[in-house]
Amino acid sequence: MNTENEKNLVFFVNGKKITENEPDPEITLLRYLREKLKLTGTKLGCSEGGCGACTVMISKFNRETNKVQHFSANACLMPVCALHGLAVTTVEGIGSTRDRLHPVQERIAKAHGSQCGFCTPGMVMSMYALLRNSSKPSMKELEIAMQGNLCRCTGYRPIIEGYRTFTKEFGNEEVCGMGEKCCKVNGGKLVDDKLFEVSEFVPYNPSQEPIFPPELKLNDQFDKETLKFINDRDVMWFRPIELKELLKFKQEHGTAAKIVVGNTEVGVEVKFKNFDYKFLANPSQIRELNELEVTKDGLKIGAAVTLTEIENFIESKTDQNVIEKSIVEMLHWFAGSQVRNVASIGGNIVTSSPISDLNPILLAAGAKLEVQSLKDGKRIIKMDENFFTGYRKNLIKDNEILVSILIPNTNKNQHFVAYKQAKRREDDIAIVTAAFNFTFKSNTNIIEDAKIAFGGMAQTTILAIKTASLMKGKEWNRKLIEIVNQSLIDEIPLSFDAPGGNVVYRRSLTLSLFFKAFLSISQELDKSLNLNILTDRDRSGIESYQNLTPKSSQLFENVSSDQPLTDPVHRPKIHSSALQQATGEAIYCDDIPKHENELYLSLVLSTKAHAKIISIDASEALKQPGIHAFYSAKDLTKDQNYFMNEELFTSEIATNQGRILGAIVGDNQIKAQRAAKLVKVEYEDLKPVIVTLEDAIKQKSYHENSPTILVNCEIESEFQKAENIFEGKVRLGGQEHFYLETQVALAIPKDSDELEIFSSTQEPAVLQNNAAKLLRLAANKIVCRTKRLGGGFGGKQSRASLAALPVAFAAYKLKRPVRIMFDRDEDMMITGGRNPFLFEYKISFTNEGKMTALEVKAYVNAGYSLESSDLVVYKASSHITNAYNIPKVRFESHVMKTNTPSNNAFRGFGIPEAQMVSEHIIREIANILKKDYIEIMKINLFKTGDVIFYRQLLDDCHSIRCFHEIIQTSNFKERRANVEKFNSENRWKKRGISLTNVMCGVAYGAQFLNQAGVLLHVYLEGSVLVSHGAVEMGQGLNIKILQIVSTTLKLPLERIHIQETATDKVPNAPTTGASVGSDIYGGAVIEACQIILKRLAPYKEKMPNASWDDWIKVAYFDRVSLSTTGFYATPDIGPEINKPRNYFTHGSAVSEVEIDCLTGDHQVNKN
Ligand SMILES: Cc1cc2nc3c(=O)[nH]c(=O)nc-3n(C[C@H](O)[C@H](O)[C@H](O)COP(=O)(O)OP(=O)(O)OC[C@H]3O[C@@H](n4cnc5c(N)ncnc54)[C@H](O)[C@@H]3O)c2cc1C
Ligand code: FES
Ligand code: FES
Repeated sequence: MNTENEKNLVFFVNGKKITENEPDPEITLLRYLREKLKLTGTKLGCSEGGCGACTVMISKFNRETNKVQHFSANACLMPVCALHGLAVTTVEGIGSTRDRLHPVQERIAKAHGSQCGFCTPGMVMSMYALLRNSSKPSMKELEIAMQGNLCRCTGYRPIIEGYRTFTKEFGNEEVCGMGEKCCKVNGGKLVDDKLFEVSEFVPYNPSQEPIFPPELKLNDQFDKETLKFINDRDVMWFRPIELKELLKFKQEHGTAAKIVVGNTEVGVEVKFKNFDYKFLANPSQIRELNELEVTKDGLKIGAAVTLTEIENFIESKTDQNVIEKSIVEMLHWFAGSQVRNVASIGGNIVTSSPISDLNPILLAAGAKLEVQSLKDGKRIIKMDENFFTGYRKNLIKDNEILVSILIPNTNKNQHFVAYKQAKRREDDIAIVTAAFNFTFKSNTNIIEDAKIAFGGMAQTTILAIKTASLMKGKEWNRKLIEIVNQSLIDEIPLSFDAPGGNVVYRRSLTLSLFFKAFLSISQELDKSLNLNILTDRDRSGIESYQNLTPKSSQLFENVSSDQPLTDPVHRPKIHSSALQQATGEAIYCDDIPKHENELYLSLVLSTKAHAKIISIDASEALKQPGIHAFYSAKDLTKDQNYFMNEELFTSEIATNQGRILGAIVGDNQIKAQRAAKLVKVEYEDLKPVIVTLEDAIKQKSYHENSPTILVNCEIESEFQKAENIFEGKVRLGGQEHFYLETQVALAIPKDSDELEIFSSTQEPAVLQNNAAKLLRLAANKIVCRTKRLGGGFGGKQSRASLAALPVAFAAYKLKRPVRIMFDRDEDMMITGGRNPFLFEYKISFTNEGKMTALEVKAYVNAGYSLESSDLVVYKASSHITNAYNIPKVRFESHVMKTNTPSNNAFRGFGIPEAQMVSEHIIREIANILKKDYIEIMKINLFKTGDVIFYRQLLDDCHSIRCFHEIIQTSNFKERRANVEKFNSENRWKKRGISLTNVMCGVAYGAQFLNQAGVLLHVYLEGSVLVSHGAVEMGQGLNIKILQIVSTTLKLPLERIHIQETATDKVPNAPTTGASVGSDIYGGAVIEACQIILKRLAPYKEKMPNASWDDWIKVAYFDRVSLSTTGFYATPDIGPEINKPRNYFTHGSAVSEVEIDCLTGDHQVNKN
């Protein structure tokens, strides 16, 4: 309902005017773009500003500067109502493969920076927004622009390589990270490092960019309108233009009124914390809240001023004081640019999060807040120890608005430093933050005044009052450190059960951050007062890490000079959909347009880790408008409800939080998710609740058939005659898959008993069978389709069924299309991840260091169900010796049951975990024998002719070659000596350098999985369509298949296409994984091509000078089939012939890492 003088919401998207007369205050720009405008190029990765997949560019006309401002923003947090008078540019608005690619789209694609492509539109738009502000940015600006964008596939290197071509530095820097040791420089004609030819890129021409909508520029009416929009749930959006209107609004609605500036707190509270706010006021047009001004008392910042505006304003000042400098330094690590571009300082203060980055600075600076209410007028509040009154609470009253913040001036005797320690430096919330403000008596090192603030150490940001007062009057010297440390320990006693965990680390950070401040300020005092507080070795503790300018190189073998230019095999071709991914034209499962009668399914999840389900009551949920059904285990027979080795809907015992108990089906996502929260579940708590591996071992909580002996060589005699024996443990944690696209599925009923399922699965054929069993249909009635995945990493194998099976059931029952896309938190709760492992080992070895026998007990946390955890341990067992020849192995597997989500297939499938064990053992042996671990490696590495402990002959082993090559190319010896020198010279920073080897067996463990099928059609005009059974998830399988077809048929790549993977094209395909896709599907497609070539042979013979198109036509009219299947089964493979692996891959790597011993912060110096 539009009430305020019937004003409409007006904004532009990609140059097109949008007028909404009833905009919904609860709708984000992302939802609006994807659902209303069908612009699905902008992706949904997290809904909370954390991944950047939804990045768009917002432009507004600044009437004061008379300039258009462009900035990147997260569409998932931007309320659509906040866009009045603004212009939005999405990835579709800047270029397309049909018309013209924008250089930012072309370069990321051609630099191989798009793999699964789900992050790519966001990357493109961050880069685009940067270029619109600075057509030749610096590498630093590039790094900042990309801070808020995550990519799970590429490791960022190729993205940066593509985008560095826009920077000032490009062309001047040494591109290859190897420097003078680059193989290219050293005359290696066989290798190349040029993936793309920069001169072939379309040059960037800023004058070609679309213009800002003149209507928004010429007319200021949009800035002057008071807006009020209300939706059918009575949620109101209010945009006043004067402060008094806002004060009135706040007076009327008190705590129910939220002031929405960046929506980076409110948006997250509404989406993930179930907060239901009815009154939202946007102060973007209120002058007092948007001003930045230098006053005689200090810097006055309007509460709605964004963090980026503050940063720019301070940076433009010629005389920044120490507090202002600290603010700018801190803002660099505050979220990513998309958040900083919209988030306000007022929002940060009023939210009062104990881990806020700015509040410690403001507290230590003694900032003053101007607040105002309609009833009581203005008042000034000092940010001191009384300001924060409890968790996310402060002295600002419910009817008050924060108008501005005054950052006080400083004097020349004042020193101010601030620190943030987070798990990851960029775009992460803090573990501990600290700010230190010390004033000295003029020309002395006597402390006159002190303020020390910490975040992350209590339920509010705190001032260490006692410690600060203890310091007053004292001399600044090394004795002070002891005094302050003891005082901080007493004053900030974080209890062991404090929320947030990491208690010991957080406690130690308070001391080490003070020590860092001590070193930093001592350096200043030494200089200005000619003191001698610091030693040279101390200096390494002063600087915190800044990101290094990335350098990289990628080398690949050149094809032989006689390979025809048209033959693409072995050439570095870009991902087959890279361009479509970069333009947003690539369609992922949730981009499929909604059907008119489509419904949405939301899962009801267990909130208990271990409990008996007494009852599930969905009656309240079913009463809600737009809710169609509730399903649970009661709607299925036992057999229907059982898939893999678990129940789909839990019937009796909730084994973990996030276990699926039921499903609500509603008109749309919002209705279904709200109703799902109304489903009442009565539980009876059960004991024990087992979370960790150690708990599970103590409780003997095993899955069936565990423990099992997986490898059983005779080791006792080796141990008896051993010169040395050592026993130890290796512990590895779990890992979240974090595919950027969460699990999605859409099921569409066809004829009465047919169903089509679109799913983001790595195994459509398995899903087809699961769905057939669930619905009691024959598999031939169900088609599963998967075009591409936004990342899989193993997590979309069986776990994809957890999304797809409920929608299949609902769609079949309700005879309507039903869709689901897990929210990021749901995905994390439901799907599990990498298995945590505990290895206990016993190794025997000679005095020289040669390993003779290894006994391993591997404990794996499988979670509530077995899933594929037993297979993961099996694979670990076969890789436990890695690249080293340990002739005798005994491996016992313990698959532990815990009350956590079921862990599952995950990149490496147990191999990296196993390799970690042998790398660890090598180093332990070296320590015991007091030898260099490089020597131990050398005498243990596999070589051709060795037999692996499971009796497979190694007939082509390159481990030793890789090992020697990496020592030479990495300059290992010299770098190692440099590391040792660095460590002896620096007290607080230490470097480490390490060499690791890997050897990986390629093949599925189960023989029957090593098979592949394809379907190949040649159309009458000569183009070729290939369908294969594997799923493209970013690994580039499709381009490899296309290359093989192109080479075999001698056809240009452009004439061959792969559309999707579907069970009606290729049946019974095994899951896509185990690094075998291109091998086995390559084999199958070669067979299909050869069948076609054989059929065409008579025509080629008859018409040798004719073209492919001619032969096809003639064959067609001669009634020859131009369609065939191809099949491949990896030959000579299987344990029974002592060849469980088809072949082995080998590799060696060197990494150099530096650590800040005071904080644990670290950086990789070189890989
Ligand atoms: C991905 C992501 C990363 C983040 N990273 C960080 C980080 O690194 N460090 C950090 O400290 N924070 C971080 N945050 C938190 C958040 O971005 C900040 O707290 C931000 O400053 C909030 O500003 P906003 O304008 O978006 O607030 P909003 O969400 O618009 O508002 C937040 C609250 O402040 C109130 N409010 C706002 N203005 C006023 C006013 N003038 N008067 C009275 N009340 C007011 C609102 O009513 C609301 O309760 C992050 C958030 C996200 C989503
Ligand atoms: S940042 Fe918006 S979807 Fe992740
Ligand atoms: S290509 Fe970046 S997430 Fe897949």
